[in-house]
Order: sequence, then C-alpha cells, then structure tokens
Amino acid sequence: STRFVDKYFAALFFNYLKLSKISFKQFCIIFHQKGAVMIKIKEIKASHMNVQKFIADKVRDIQQAVGDGLAINALSGGVDSSVVTALGHKALGKRLKTYFIDNGIMREGEPVKVAAAFKKLGIQVEVLDASKAFFAALKGLTDPEEKREAITQTFYKNVFGKLVVKSKAKYLLQGTILTDVDETVAGIKRQHNVFEQLGIDPQKAFGYKILEPLIELRKDGVRKAGRGLGLPESMFNRIPFPGPALVARVIGEVTPAKIALVRKATAITEVALKDIKAFQYLAILHEDRVTGMRNNKRVFGNQIEIRCWNSLDARTARPTRLSFDILEDIAAKITKEIPEVVSVTYNITSKPTSTIEAI
Ligand code: XMP
Repeated sequence: STRFVDKYFAALFFNYLKLSKISFKQFCIIFHQKGAVMIKIKEIKASHMNVQKFIADKVRDIQQAVGDGLAINALSGGVDSSVVTALGHKALGKRLKTYFIDNGIMREGEPVKVAAAFKKLGIQVEVLDASKAFFAALKGLTDPEEKREAITQTFYKNVFGKLVVKSKAKYLLQGTILTDVDETVAGIKRQHNVFEQLGIDPQKAFGYKILEPLIELRKDGVRKAGRGLGLPESMFNRIPFPGPALVARVIGEVTPAKIALVRKATAITEVALKDIKAFQYLAILHEDRVTGMRNNKRVFGNQIEIRCWNSLDARTARPTRLSFDILEDIAAKITKEIPEVVSVTYNITSKPTSTIEAI
C-alpha cells in the first residue's frame, strides 16, 4: 500500500540523514536554502581533524569551482573571515579580491590594523569606507532588531552586494561555519553571512555562486585551520565580537558621536582585561544619563556599563568575579579619558536572563 511505501521511504530518508550525520533541522535549512538540490553538511570535529589535508582539500575545491575566473570576499577581521581569506588566497592568489568594508562601527583602528596584518602575509586587502551609508541607515532607529536589520541590509544590498556585481566576480567566498547554520535554524542568531536569509538567490539575482569552505567546522576547527595556514595567533584567538559591531553596545539611536564614545570605552576595557582570560568583555553606552560632578559642578553625563563573561560557548554565561581594584581602575580610566562619562557600572547578571551584548 502507499502507506507502506511512505513509511519505507521515510525510514530510508532518516537513515540517510543519520549516516550523513546531519540533523533533520540542518536538512530543513539546507533544503530551504538550496531548493530541491540537497547537499549534506558533515561535521569535521576539531579533535579528528587532519589540518593539512583539510587545507589541501579546500584549496583544491576552491580552485576547481572558480577555474580561471575571479572570486571576491569580505574580510571583517574576525576569525572565520580571516581564515577564509587566507584559504582563498592560497587557492587563487590575486584572483581573489578581498575587501574590508569599513562600516564606521568597528573597534579603534580595526580597518588599518587588519589590512596591515594581511599585508604582512602578502595578502592585499582593499579598505572601502562605507561608514556614511551605515550611519544613514541607522538614523532614527532605536529598536534593537531594526538596528540589526539595517546593518544586514546595508551590507548586503547597498555596499557589498553592489561591489560584487561591479567586480564581475562569479564566486563569493564566505566564512559560514556549522554553528552559524545551527543557530540560524534554532532562531538563536540572526544570520549575517547567509544571503538566502534575505530571500535573495545570489545565482539568480546577481549571477554568482557562494562558496563556504568552513561550513563543516566549528570555531575550534577554524582556529586549527588558521594556525595551519600560518596566521598569527592574535588573528585567530581573538575574543568574540558581534557582527553588528559596536551597534550591539549602544542603547537607543546610534550616532557617530555615540559610537566614538563607546569605541573609546571599549579600547580602555579591552586593555584593562586582556590578561584576565575571560570569555568576552565589553563596554556598553546607556541611553539614560545621570547627574555627575565635573570641576565642582553638577553635570548631566553619560553612563558606561562594563560586562565581563565566563562562558564556554556563549549560550550561557556568568559574570567574571573581577577584583574591585581592577573595576575601580577601569572606572577611573574611563571617566578620566572620556569627559562625557560620569558613571561606570559592572553587570552582575548571568545569561540568561541577560544576553552577552546589550542589543
Ligand atoms: P548574545 O548577546 O546573544 O551573544 O548573548 C552571544 C554571542 O554571540 C555574539 N553575537 C554575535 N555574533 N553576529 C555574530 O556573529 C551577531 O549578530 C551577534 N550578536 C551577538 C556575542 O558577541 C556573543 O559572543
């Protein structure tokens, strides 16, 4: 009967998923993204990874896909995009054009630092100043999700999407990792590096294909690949930093002045806590102001909140028990170096209920 046939195929199907080591959820998102063409993602565990073989396989895959054409990628300075950049250049040399989109919301000196670090490795990175477009898109927005959406749309539709079309590259390299796929499926994270999220089929819309050479790896595997590719430790062992950058740390409307302020506080916090061995640490600019004292006068000033987290995978986290000496030192430096700030607080809430970032 048909019911038997249905059951038979269902059993075969789930067996296939099991053998392919992909969950039903992963299948659904792949199916959703790729339509009827099913590709499977098989996890490569860092502990079982043959790093040199992984690199050689991916270099060959990229070369075979791109042929003698051109490819393009965006480098953010994060671990994943740095490793993809190094891998892509190993495969394609100058036929991979790497852009660093300066969105104006990065940490202090980030665009210059990242470009210089890659130059040392013999990789040319073009820095593109797109900060005006990002600030224009953020203007007037106060809702956290609307702010995040504005950054995604500006990046893909206005800036990088146009650049890809102009470059005539037929291939786009992206640093999507397996955790990104899982978290997108689970609804934990708004995915920044998957075009389909925007309902865009890149092949149809722009005539190019996306290559995701790290999709079988988790973060620890990506770090191993980075080491194997000869990237400096400082590049692949950085603390996590969110895709929406400092916007995730400004409550309320984002302006260039507020970003400049939280950027300074971030730099001070990162220097002060770099040897703590915490999972992540950050500074947040609050929207509310409070009365403070400057030069014996009462002034209405800004508040910075410091967060420092112990965590394994960012899904849950606890505040680090920093010493009061360290905390007081951070507060003193921030209020000395940033005149607008009159008050500094430390977060003592776990995730959940808190999140790691502020928006
Ligand atoms: P939350 O704030 O959700 O953050 O507890 C969990 C971890 O993810 C980082 N994060 C992001 N990373 N794109 C990313 O690639 C994002 O939109 C994003 N939002 C948060 C955050 O820094 C923390 O490590």
